[in-house]
Amino acid sequence: MRKYLIAGNWKMNLVPSKAKEFAEELVDNLKKINDDIIVMVAPPFTALEGVSNIIKGSKIKLGAQNINDNEDGAYTGEISADMLLDIGVEYVIIGHSERRHIYNENNEFINKKVLKALSKGLKPILCVGELLSERETGDTEKVVREQVVKCLNGVSREQMVNLVIAYEPVWAIGTGKVATPEQAEEVHAFIRKLIEELYDKDTASDLIIQYGGSVKPDNIDGLMVKENLDGALVGGASLKVDSFCRLVNFNK
Ligand code: PGA
Repeated sequence: MRKYLIAGNWKMNLVPSKAKEFAEELVDNLKKINDDIIVMVAPPFTALEGVSNIIKGSKIKLGAQNINDNEDGAYTGEISADMLLDIGVEYVIIGHSERRHIYNENNEFINKKVLKALSKGLKPILCVGELLSERETGDTEKVVREQVVKCLNGVSREQMVNLVIAYEPVWAIGTGKVATPEQAEEVHAFIRKLIEELYDKDTASDLIIQYGGSVKPDNIDGLMVKENLDGALVGGASLKVDSFCRLVNFNK
């Protein structure tokens, strides 16, 4: 049975001292989590170690927001897989639309990061999703197919058990415009079918596919009832204790 992954992407918010306070409150409020739910938070790099120490022993897992595709060396300003692993990071968000569109990361570059993360034992959350203009021209499936195929190039069937895909329509991120459960389900089902085509039926049915884009306490329940939606990758609504805890405890 697939689990749900509810993940908070804190983006460039919370200085380390505030991040630690916030993590303490989350630990206090999330002592009981259903067995079929995995909870993860992805603080900014400078807060990772502090948050790691606080959530150790709790049910909350640690994620990073980016990774470099090289092992180590002269890459000023970059963070390697080993640096993340050394402080207890388990998941890493790769190919987020803000990295694709603000920092010009393309599918080939994202693929290198996915391969590096997997080879080091980190679990990538590979983000895919179309722009509003691409949805309007009917190109959603074409764009998502290309992103999935290119970003998973060279990823083995065995490695797929450690990978998560997040479908995040770019027009829904931070805009308050959530995809309807039906719109999301359509793309999630398409992605699962594509994974079956690229790998096999078991790999496809075991894959966690999160939805992301303006997920809030008042819309999560309607999204999570859909068959192919296995959790949420949440930005804005993950930055308040009450709201994040409500998301973790969504009604099934
Ligand atoms: P949002 O961000 O929940 O603020 O829309 C989602 C994301 O960027 O993953």
